[in-house]
Amino acid sequence: MSEASRKDAEDLFSEAQRFVLDAGLTLFVGPTDSGKSTLAAKWGSLMCRQGLRCAVVDADVGQSDIGPPGTIGMGRLRRPVQSLGEVPAESLYFVGAFSPRERPLECLTGLHSMVKQARRLGAERILVDTTGFIKGTLGRRLKLSKADLLDPDLIVCLERSAECEFLAKAYPHGRPRIIRIPTPPGVRRRSIEQRTANRLRALARHTAGGWVRQVDLQKTSLVGWPILIGPPLSRGQMRDLGKRLGRGVLWGERMEERLVVICDGPLLWRSEEILKGPWGKMETWDLSDFNLRLVGIDDLRGETRWVGILVRLLVPEMKAEVWAPPSAREIGGLRLGEASITPEQFHYLTEWGREYNPTGAPKSS
Ligand SMILES: Nc1ncnc2c1ncn2[C@@H]1O[C@H](COP(=O)(O)OP(=O)(O)OP(=O)(O)O)[C@@H](O)[C@H]1O
Ligand SMILES: [Mg+2]
Repeated sequence: MSEASRKDAEDLFSEAQRFVLDAGLTLFVGPTDSGKSTLAAKWGSLMCRQGLRCAVVDADVGQSDIGPPGTIGMGRLRRPVQSLGEVPAESLYFVGAFSPRERPLECLTGLHSMVKQARRLGAERILVDTTGFIKGTLGRRLKLSKADLLDPDLIVCLERSAECEFLAKAYPHGRPRIIRIPTPPGVRRRSIEQRTANRLRALARHTAGGWVRQVDLQKTSLVGWPILIGPPLSRGQMRDLGKRLGRGVLWGERMEERLVVICDGPLLWRSEEILKGPWGKMETWDLSDFNLRLVGIDDLRGETRWVGILVRLLVPEMKAEVWAPPSAREIGGLRLGEASITPEQFHYLTEWGREYNPTGAPKSS
């Protein structure tokens, strides 16, 4: 960087800092590894030193700093921090995916919900840190939807090239104010492997010392599950369906205009004639589709407090074996995620946990 462009960057940076200190709601946007989270931590800390009540919403579901992966977390800054990872999560919204591509609606809803919660807790300044997913049609649409939904005072764009041009084009009239600054030269880039490893470590820390519990799904509030909504099929009906599908049918229920069926393996063939019938359409699941999925865990008041791993679903008992953190003593609700982990990754999670709790048994309180 030349001396002149460094001076320009410094000027832009101080201008952005002036605006951010005044803005009630600021959105940080930019490609991956552009320094968004570090800058949010720095300016949040500055606000803290100035006595402003500041909260951070961490909308990065893949590389979460506040709260476990797969969630949008919110926490207030009680003291200056080096990194957002030092901010304890006070509220979580379970998205259930490690990339906004998989669950864009939940990302938007979660963002809105966490900003509302920060306001409810009296935050005078709210900083929203987002994922680096900004390229491609969906990435751009998602950032525009976030801006329209939240109506922030300021959007800070950290750019390597002109990744945020579309935002400047979308809001030329001064609200939200758009500030574009170049990525700081020292920013380190992380590979996909490093990101996956970071995520796994974060999950392991969150569930450390955990163990597998059996949760009765008929006594638990369920969000995002395709089952236990409509009336179940009889054994005879399941047997007949199994013959048509060439698979054992373990569970079936009627859900409005369709049937939802869980089979003992993947269907060997799928034809419209088989999946359509007098019952309308049929949605089929392989029992193992549920294995090792990320789940959100609610407490008895319906608040999402933890994430865990659905080890397996037991049908027809309708129970779930869930690897959950030790503090999740009473489980009031389970939210089914989209993301899953591999058996090797699950092994790593449970091994990491043993370092904290060698017997693997519940600790007495
Ligand atoms: N101004 C800076 N000088 C030196 N290093 C920095 C600076 N800003 C960030 N870094 C380092 O660069 C890396 C990436 O920064 P950061 O996590 O803030 O980026 P990000 O845009 O939030 O990334 P992601 O898209 O993964 O969320 C981190 O290791 C951070 O410590
Ligand atoms: Mg970040």
